[in-house]
Amino acid sequence: MMSEQSKVVVVTGGASGIGYAFVEYLARAGHRMVIADLRGTEEATARIRNQGLAAIGVTTDVVKRDDVEKMVEAASKEYGGIDVLVNNAGLFTTLSLKPFDRITEQEWMRVMEVNTLGPFLCAKAVVPVMRKKGSGRIINIASTTPIKGTPMMLHYVASKGAVIAFTRSLAKELGNDNITVNAIAPGFTLSEGVLQSGLHEKMPDTARKTSRTIQRDQVPEDLVGALAFLASDEAGFITGQTLAVDGGSVFL
Ligand SMILES: NC(=O)c1ccc[n+]([C@@H]2O[C@H](COP(=O)([O-])OP(=O)(O)OC[C@H]3O[C@@H](n4cnc5c(N)ncnc54)[C@H](O)[C@@H]3O)[C@@H](O)[C@H]2O)c1
Repeated sequence: MMSEQSKVVVVTGGASGIGYAFVEYLARAGHRMVIADLRGTEEATARIRNQGLAAIGVTTDVVKRDDVEKMVEAASKEYGGIDVLVNNAGLFTTLSLKPFDRITEQEWMRVMEVNTLGPFLCAKAVVPVMRKKGSGRIINIASTTPIKGTPMMLHYVASKGAVIAFTRSLAKELGNDNITVNAIAPGFTLSEGVLQSGLHEKMPDTARKTSRTIQRDQVPEDLVGALAFLASDEAGFITGQTLAVDGGSVFL
């Protein structure tokens, strides 16, 4: 799969957690990485470059159009284009579990902003570069929570449901541009952010393990194969799809 030509891959939220696992895996496979994150881009880029691999870091807030456009310019200048956009940045690990009627309007708007406006602005800025090249891949990181109807984080679940809908409609709009749009829906994953927040300690065993076919905790590395496949040339006829990677907890 990775014997193909080196691609330029933007990973939003790529400085830590699942995003960093994506960056490291694809960089080791020979791809040139653009780490776009609010914080930690310098450290993450140094960790990749210290392995002799290719990456640049661009401090980016995905909800700020100017930041996103500058990030696309920096990637194009450094590497001559963008082949793959991974919309991974999201608000999840900093959220607390609460009943829907205790979520404030501000919390609702902020989660929607980062988790839905962010991918929209990034796609809008990257698509002209992909169109120019005549091909591209957009991979959105959704979640299995809207499929399960997970309680106690309604804003988050609704935002990730929107990401799945966004994936389908955008795929239809970009089919003739040879740009595929797919989503990966991870199950509950022990990312850096989850471990720091202690969220995993509050999750019932059913969410973490026993509802899975493969009954163990999920780690960021469980997601890299799906990403590499959807980014590959071999996946060129797959679009609009959501691939659940959760040890067989939900079946789509
Ligand atoms: N961890 C899980 O259980 C899980 C499950 C399903 C889906 N997801 C999704 O996977 C993605 C990554 O999750 P994670 O657990 O690694 O999260 P995390 O909180 O550990 O990391 C998120 C990254 O996004 C960055 N970020 C946040 N807001 C940003 C913004 N406005 N602009 C740019 N970067 C921003 C953060 O700095 C951080 O590096 C998220 O979209 C999340 O919703 C996570």
